[in-house]
Amino acid sequence: MIDESRVEAGALSRDGVAAEVVLAEVRRLRGLDRPTHGGRLFAYVYDPAVPGLDDLAAAAHRESAHVNGLDPTAFPSLLAMENALVAAAGRVLGGGPGTTAPDVVGTVTSGGTESLILAVKSARDAHPELAAPRIVVPASAHAAFAKAAHYLRVELDVVPVSPDTLRPDPAAMAAAIRPDTVLVACSAPSYAHGVVDPVAEIAAVAAAAGVRCHVDACFGGWTLPYLRRLGEPVPAFDFAVPGVTSISVDLHKYAYAPKGVSVLLHRDAALRASQYFAYADWPGYTMINPVIASTRSGGPIAAAYATLRHLGDAGYLALAERTRDAVAGLAAAVRGVDGLRLMAEPESTVVCFTATEDGPDLFVLVDELTARGWHTQPQLSYAGLPASVHLTVTASVAPRVAEFGPDLADAVAAARAAGPVPLPAELVALAGALTPDALTPEVVAGLAAGLGLGDAGDASTPDRMAVVNTLLDAAPPALRERLLVEFVGLLQRPAWTAGA
Ligand SMILES: Cc1ncc(COP(=O)(O)O)c(C=O)c1O
Repeated sequence: MIDESRVEAGALSRDGVAAEVVLAEVRRLRGLDRPTHGGRLFAYVYDPAVPGLDDLAAAAHRESAHVNGLDPTAFPSLLAMENALVAAAGRVLGGGPGTTAPDVVGTVTSGGTESLILAVKSARDAHPELAAPRIVVPASAHAAFAKAAHYLRVELDVVPVSPDTLRPDPAAMAAAIRPDTVLVACSAPSYAHGVVDPVAEIAAVAAAAGVRCHVDACFGGWTLPYLRRLGEPVPAFDFAVPGVTSISVDLHKYAYAPKGVSVLLHRDAALRASQYFAYADWPGYTMINPVIASTRSGGPIAAAYATLRHLGDAGYLALAERTRDAVAGLAAAVRGVDGLRLMAEPESTVVCFTATEDGPDLFVLVDELTARGWHTQPQLSYAGLPASVHLTVTASVAPRVAEFGPDLADAVAAARAAGPVPLPAELVALAGALTPDALTPEVVAGLAAGLGLGDAGDASTPDRMAVVNTLLDAAPPALRERLLVEFVGLLQRPAWTAGA
């Protein structure tokens, strides 16, 4: 029997809540978030600051939100928009009629991670004869390749990157290819540092070995061609490069579409065939899925379609120009502050910097920047590469650039004055020595409390993250992973009381 006093829980209200009240709740919650607009958030969001674009995308999303991509024959509108998005991406990335890759085909996926998982799946399933397939990636490749390898039970062979160039040596990539290798991957550009891998050389060694080569252009694939048209020295990285068999590009990044849209392109339909999953051996509808999801909303696809149609080639060129100028301005600001150095000269839309020997503590600096309204992304030290601060730069940053330099200098001075966070020595020793298996929920709860991460059920994170980042930085990757799982597990708990 249902206990009538207990029907309300979290989002489920007792009798329904008026639309305007619900919207007010959502807006209040949104106030907790980092600012998605205004050019002061250097990760997670891609904002072109084009007036009216949000409203257009939202209207298009609304038109198609209830359309189901499960069956393209039932909803031809979605198929038409998908095919239009794929053609646009193919054209931007050197394919289509009149190019050296005239037979390019593709699929719209939900994001970069799904595109990469499907690139790995296509390569793996093209070789059913291999019991233990492997892929080769540079250490700078996006973590989604590791996720793909994990989900698909494919071995991951990681090739180190040079601490100077932040790129892999193509000869080392070649040496890592084994008889069971089904895919070699590289980035254009890498997320962490924004550098473009030597795609032509890597694709050549892959082709020589008869192995597919995927270019992960999820992050910058939509911008690099426009930067090249603006005169920047962008190396060849797309289908113009012989040996490149597939490319991913996220429309929800630099094509400025709302979240949930990436494109996975293959050089031809034969290469794509193993991407599909078809199933007719059950009593329900026959299933044929090009992507991981089965039911999927038409909303993101319609919103992306509207965004591309509205901005157009000229719009993207202008946005790339604004972004390039913002990158140059931010990089100059970093160069102008004692104690910081760029990890690499910017060659795409990333500014990434680290501290010099006598520079400030980077994690404290990130907090000081946050306190001044600049939301940057700390990156932990890894395999001989120092900790760094990552800025994903979008067109919306351009009007803010002049304000950044003085605030950066100010934040560095404050971080120097404060010094590194005083983490209890025993905590650091623990982080360095603990094995992931020794991390019981009790130990983690104790650590979380010690770090001020709030009680269980309190979905807040502290204003100052330096203490957490310092602890994570002291831990080896396997322990970092375990700590993150436990910490996020503490945040993700059902909210039983009514409302959010
Ligand atoms: C180079 C690269 N590949 C893949 C991804 C994963 O994309 P998503 O977060 O859309 O799954 C990202 C995300 O930043 C990326 O930068």
